[in-house]
Amino acid sequence: MSKVHLIDHPLVQHKLTLMRNKEASTNSFRRLLNELAMLMAYEVTRDMAMQEVEIETPMEKTRARVIDGKKLVFVSILRAGTGILDGMLSVVPGARVGHIGLYRDPKTLTAVEYYFKMPQDMHERDVVVVDPMLATGNSAIAAVERLKELRPKSIKFVCLLTCPEGVAALQAAHPDVPIYTAAIDRQLNDHGYILPGLGDAGDRMFGTK
Ligand code: URA
Repeated sequence: MSKVHLIDHPLVQHKLTLMRNKEASTNSFRRLLNELAMLMAYEVTRDMAMQEVEIETPMEKTRARVIDGKKLVFVSILRAGTGILDGMLSVVPGARVGHIGLYRDPKTLTAVEYYFKMPQDMHERDVVVVDPMLATGNSAIAAVERLKELRPKSIKFVCLLTCPEGVAALQAAHPDVPIYTAAIDRQLNDHGYILPGLGDAGDRMFGTK
């Protein structure tokens, strides 16, 4: 079974609580998501491969380690993944970016793909899939399934919030994909929303409701 990394750092939890509040403005929701994504990037990149480069300090030449950002791909599940993507890119600016367009069929709650664009040489890259909410797990499962066709070196999944149903579904479908999240909430409701959750992440981020 894949590992679930619960990121319970006080800064992460504080910002998440501010985002959950229904009074948070679109502006502050977006800013907080961006800040949270930077903090989560710190955790998800903890075991990233590094390479040595030669540099010159003001004192002498030396060799020192840097992250090979080009080997990393952030894959954003549209549209809500965009908010996490921006924050992650601000701390790993060399990363490549892929997009998967999926929408939830409102009746069946299954994921329907409408867009898929990835960098080249995916088989040489580590992939971090980002989507703020792991709810039914249908979108995450479909996204990972599609990405596996390209045989990347590894796949991780990062979300802000999930619930026991979402974790169980993704783990059952993809036991090799670790999940990084700031919280595991109580449950899903009948419409596939997380309780207590934070509402519709896309609508809150883009002010579309
Ligand atoms: N997507 C959201 O934006 N919110 C939820 O609670 C579940 C899925």
